[in-house]
Amino acid sequence: MKSILCLILSCSLFSPVKEDKPLYKDASRPVEERVEDLLGRMTQEEKILQLNQYTLGQNTNENNIGEVTAKIPAGIGSLIYFQEDPEMRNEMQKRAMEETRLGIPILFGFDVIHGYRTVYPIPLAQACSWNTDLVQQACSMAAVEANCSGVDWTFSPMIDVARDGRWGRISEGYGEDPYTNAAFCVASVKGYQGDGLRKDNRIAACLKHYVGYGASEAGRDYVYTEISRQTLWDTYLPPYEAGVKAGVATVMSSFNDISGTPATCNSYTLDEVLKKRWNFDGFVVSDWAAVDQLISQGAAANRKEAARISINAGLDMDMVSHCYDQYLDTLINKGDVSEERLNDAVRRVLTLKFRLGLFEHPYTEVVPAEQYLLQPQSKEVAERLAEECIVLLKNEGNLLPLQDKKTLAVMGPLIDAPEELLGNWSAHGRTEEVFPIQDAIRQEFEGKANLAFHTGCPFEGNDRSGFASALETARKADVVILFMGEKRNWSGENCSRSAIELPAIQESFIQEMKKAGKPMVLVLASGRPLGLHRVEPLCDAIIEMWQPGIPGGRPVAGVLSGRVNPSGKLCVTFPRTTGQIPVYYNQRQSSRPTLGLYQDIPSAPLYEFGHGLSYTTYQYGELKLSKQTVKKEETLVAEIAVTNVGNRTGAETVHWFISDPYCRITRPKRELKHFEKLEIPAGETRIFRFEINPMRDLSFVDGEGNRFLETGEYGVIVNGQKACLTIE
Ligand code: NOJ
Repeated sequence: MKSILCLILSCSLFSPVKEDKPLYKDASRPVEERVEDLLGRMTQEEKILQLNQYTLGQNTNENNIGEVTAKIPAGIGSLIYFQEDPEMRNEMQKRAMEETRLGIPILFGFDVIHGYRTVYPIPLAQACSWNTDLVQQACSMAAVEANCSGVDWTFSPMIDVARDGRWGRISEGYGEDPYTNAAFCVASVKGYQGDGLRKDNRIAACLKHYVGYGASEAGRDYVYTEISRQTLWDTYLPPYEAGVKAGVATVMSSFNDISGTPATCNSYTLDEVLKKRWNFDGFVVSDWAAVDQLISQGAAANRKEAARISINAGLDMDMVSHCYDQYLDTLINKGDVSEERLNDAVRRVLTLKFRLGLFEHPYTEVVPAEQYLLQPQSKEVAERLAEECIVLLKNEGNLLPLQDKKTLAVMGPLIDAPEELLGNWSAHGRTEEVFPIQDAIRQEFEGKANLAFHTGCPFEGNDRSGFASALETARKADVVILFMGEKRNWSGENCSRSAIELPAIQESFIQEMKKAGKPMVLVLASGRPLGLHRVEPLCDAIIEMWQPGIPGGRPVAGVLSGRVNPSGKLCVTFPRTTGQIPVYYNQRQSSRPTLGLYQDIPSAPLYEFGHGLSYTTYQYGELKLSKQTVKKEETLVAEIAVTNVGNRTGAETVHWFISDPYCRITRPKRELKHFEKLEIPAGETRIFRFEINPMRDLSFVDGEGNRFLETGEYGVIVNGQKACLTIE
């Protein structure tokens, strides 16, 4: 009897209470509570698995060789998902939900860089549109295509300020200016993530590559970067701060060594700045195998040490190195990594999974691909964006648009290479979905001009066999249009070039075609600014179409015919030659501004940041300030009227710069602080405004990240005009 009583008692007192539903599975509870509840139930081993990312499916990017997927543990934190349909995701997710003790869903990530199946122009081109709304729409539509295909998380946007065109990855970001990168960063984060992550096929964004990767020495990839704390704060960090403020879910650390401490294990940038100062509550993922690569960088003697210094610096998730899953257990047991740090990292990963609603909706609904890929609205946005990205660099004697020209010779290696128009990192984009240049020109000029097509010249090499017949074709034409430039894999990751000029064969082809004595239009597709000093004098008109994605040749055909009035402006300087690099608009002042110049070439670049012509003419009125003297906490308004005095509608972007001629920390000559693009019908005027908040727009940051605003004189600069104001 006594023993029976004991049994009953012990059962009721000590056996676990059977829960209907654990708290973490209750969607009505706040995310923080759910995370804590789940964390409290996890073993160390389960926690560690959450901090690892492996790959799933077939990788198509040669820089990221995928692993065979059969042995992936079901409790893994994240997978890079290379497939285009959701089937494999759902199978793997089923294992996570049903075969693991706690049923924690996997987070599926992928590089949706400039579109998914609808490929938009490359990011460097996107920024030349100066249309953040359009970029936001493109990211939002890319999110739908990706999410319906099984992706929860994109490794985008890339917001590395880049001032060296030799660096192949300049194509993936928004150019040379911190403010521009920040503005397009915010637009893309909003596009991918929406207002909240849970609804309407939103996906988590990832700011990369944190930080200073764009400072790669001589444009070589993966190498050392020499960045002072001052430059870190005034140039490389601002776009990240903007992205964190916009609520980005994740950040990716970069491959580079920042002045002696690789970004992967840099506690200053990861912990002190990102997490403590900016209160970033998302998680940080390493770049591909970057934890392991700390050994090649000379920061760790072995993989275990690499894991230890990375997690202790604040790196939460290990992308494919397998250093965390292999060594964290031992490191924690020995006290080399604290349980607190482990819990903090896991908490961050789980938080995103809850925020994305993955516990409630772990699977992707399988619907026919025609219902979500390549929808008319996304193709329309791609086309408009590609049109707005195009920069008319030169238009001598208003050769363009080509009206009343009877015969056009259309030549160059790009006319037969639609795949090159997709650009690098074009995800699941397909060549057959790119609108070919020849078809576009035919469609555009049908019944208006005779067309002769001739490739004439390869992208590279020495084959001049097409030159003679191409010259014949050119001689018979009224205008010669040359489509030249770069292949898609000449830019992007691990695709740097030592010189940014066109390859010798292309330059020589342009020189040869000049012999025809006909007006010549050079149309460029490239993933970087190019050095055009030798060919620019030979061409009457030059168009930079960049790599437009699936709209292919249609937007530029529209510019050639005049259907499209170009409105793009450069977000990156075009140096005259490679030797001018680095040359960017926001350089600091020289001690002898008129001396120290190059003796062999002009010191000014060929095309400045902000340069871009139109088929109409804009007349700028007088730059006016609402007040000339303000107190630090007051605001003021700068205004300028712009009139379209030409005879067709155009869209003009006004760039608002400020200058601070004297400061205890020297500042760039000009700093972009605001831009606005407005459509202006012929004969009409639009007022462009910049509401100046001195603390936000005129202040500067020191090498410790402290923002300060000095009293004294400042300049507001628009289109060559300058107005002065004083801060009291
Ligand atoms: C390496 C690249 O540097 C990064 O940008 C990319 O997101 C990852 N691989 C994942 O593919």
